[in-house]
Amino acid sequence: MRALFLVVLYAGLCYASPVTDQENIETLMDNVLVLRVPHDKATLVNVPLGCGEAYRNQPVVWKKDGEEIEPPLKGNQVNVLVEEMDGGNYTCHLGPDGEYLNHTVIFIQLDPDNRTVILEEQSTEKGHIHCSAPNYNGSFHCSWKRSRVRSSAPVLLVKAERNLENIPCELNADGSGIQCQEANCPYKEEQHRIFVTVYIYSASLLEAYTRAFYLRDIARPDALLNIRNSNGKVFSWSYPDSWEKPCSYFVLQFQVKVVQKGRSCDGEHHIMLHTTEETKYEVNLKLQKYAFCVRAQDKITLGPFNHWNFCTVNKHEVVC
Ligand SMILES: *[C@@H]1O[C@H](CO)[C@@H](O)[C@H](O)[C@H]1NC(C)=O
Ligand SMILES: *[C@@H]1O[C@H](CO)[C@@H](O)[C@H](O)[C@H]1NC(C)=O
Ligand SMILES: *[C@@H]1O[C@H](CO)[C@@H](O)[C@H](O)[C@H]1NC(C)=O
Ligand SMILES: *[C@@H]1O[C@H](CO)[C@@H](O)[C@H](O)[C@H]1NC(C)=O
Repeated sequence: MRALFLVVLYAGLCYASPVTDQENIETLMDNVLVLRVPHDKATLVNVPLGCGEAYRNQPVVWKKDGEEIEPPLKGNQVNVLVEEMDGGNYTCHLGPDGEYLNHTVIFIQLDPDNRTVILEEQSTEKGHIHCSAPNYNGSFHCSWKRSRVRSSAPVLLVKAERNLENIPCELNADGSGIQCQEANCPYKEEQHRIFVTVYIYSASLLEAYTRAFYLRDIARPDALLNIRNSNGKVFSWSYPDSWEKPCSYFVLQFQVKVVQKGRSCDGEHHIMLHTTEETKYEVNLKLQKYAFCVRAQDKITLGPFNHWNFCTVNKHEVVC
């Protein structure tokens, strides 16, 4: 029995003995290291840190998250032991109470990163990141939603690229989305997908979320313009200004629908449903009260529809 206990204890010790496993440590960006740890194993990893060439001959002392480390960690090049999820912000200073010199943040990422908790899934097919473009000129927008308990999780980094070419993006002030602009030719056949990766963290836990798409799959027209009604029956509208021109090449098709007054355009029930390429439609129904709904999608790619635009008809009064 005791022998068995010792074997178990020994196995436990081996398993937890610190390893320096360079393969699991990645420099994600300046001053940021990411340590990949498996889900189901206790880990203890030695991570080498350096304060920087400039301070090679200085009496360097390290702190973790602003606190002194016990026993003190001294020297320009050091190893820190990271246990499981216990990453942190390691700063190096000139002497024990001296000025700040440099820092390295160690984040922990689960490997594989498949049990994410920071962002909420928007839907099974959309995933965690929703992207949309008003046309094919290379501008697109992506957004995400943080879960309620991690609503202030900061975004560390966003990478957007196509075929290894970087796409410039700007993060919203509240960290809930990005606006990007690729230098793109709207007439060119898209051969490679755009990859957007969002790195977001909560305490030491770092999660990376990736979305891959072609612009043709996310190009969704903005709201239709000038929706109006003439003579009570004919409804007309125009292409959104932001849609790609010429319209003869980038054709939209429209879904038109009549629903009972008071019902939503999104509902299942309709009185009439029709698809057209024209920017007008004549309603031939002996109805006094109804709602007229219209929405658009790219006719060639059959990409996403925009939101329904609508007019309500109440006898001779039409409000669009
Ligand atoms: C600070 O540390 C980073 C590595 O984390 C290093 O690349 C950089 O050169 C250092 N800065 C100085 C001034 O040495
Ligand atoms: C780490 O500490 C440095 C120095 O105080 C600070 O500039 C940096 O923003 C911190 N980084 C993070 C991710 O907390
Ligand atoms: C995550 O990956 C691990 C290891 O491959 C696997 O055992 C686990 O079932 C996966 N979890 C989910 C939620 O997919
Ligand atoms: C692309 O289209 C959007 C929406 O109309 C516009 O805001 C943006 O300036 C356009 N970009 C270029 C480079 O034409």
